[in-house]
Amino acid sequence: MALPRLVILISGSGSNLQAVLDAVEAGTITAVPSLVVSNRKKAYGLVRAETAGVPTAYFPFKPYRGAGKSREQYDADLAELIRPYQPDLIVLAGWMHILSATFLNCFPHKVINLHPALPGQFAGTHAIQRAYDAYQRGEIAHTGCMVHFTIPEVDAGPVVAQAEVPILPTDSLADLETRMHQAEHQLLVTAVQDLLTK
Ligand code: GAR
Repeated sequence: MALPRLVILISGSGSNLQAVLDAVEAGTITAVPSLVVSNRKKAYGLVRAETAGVPTAYFPFKPYRGAGKSREQYDADLAELIRPYQPDLIVLAGWMHILSATFLNCFPHKVINLHPALPGQFAGTHAIQRAYDAYQRGEIAHTGCMVHFTIPEVDAGPVVAQAEVPILPTDSLADLETRMHQAEHQLLVTAVQDLLTK
């Protein structure tokens, strides 16, 4: 039987992509990573994908903006780029571009996003920093991370899995970032495999 196909979208370091690639290698995730897309040329995740022998595509929004083309056009073309890979699951792993319904409607119930905060908290960029600051102000006692189905609203949508991440009084921001990324790597691998075997 053919293994399910994963397409992974990244914009940066790709440590979560690496966790998925390692899990595939270890057999913890039973799937084929068929494409990694980055909207940033220098994203280190592209190197990780190439090292693992996974096809890559660099697909930036900037030329669209430069040519006065809409986000919807970009999203439609991104969907066309991905479609031939016939993904069973599309994983946004540090993908920093908000996808509209134009893209999402092409892959219903197939696009999941990882976010370093609990549902309803710290949507958008710098979520770990904002949680850290909120903790310092006494507003929260812990933070967390989640995997959710993607909707046009940023970092929101039906939750697939979540994990609490403690914040310690002695934590530097870097300490919290390290703990968060460890939690994310585990959560993402488990969530992907769960969804693929449902
Ligand atoms: C991760 O912490 C991910 O949750 C976050 O970007 C980081 C990517 O790290 N995503 C968001 O903030 C989405 N709003 P990585 O490139 O090392 O996987």
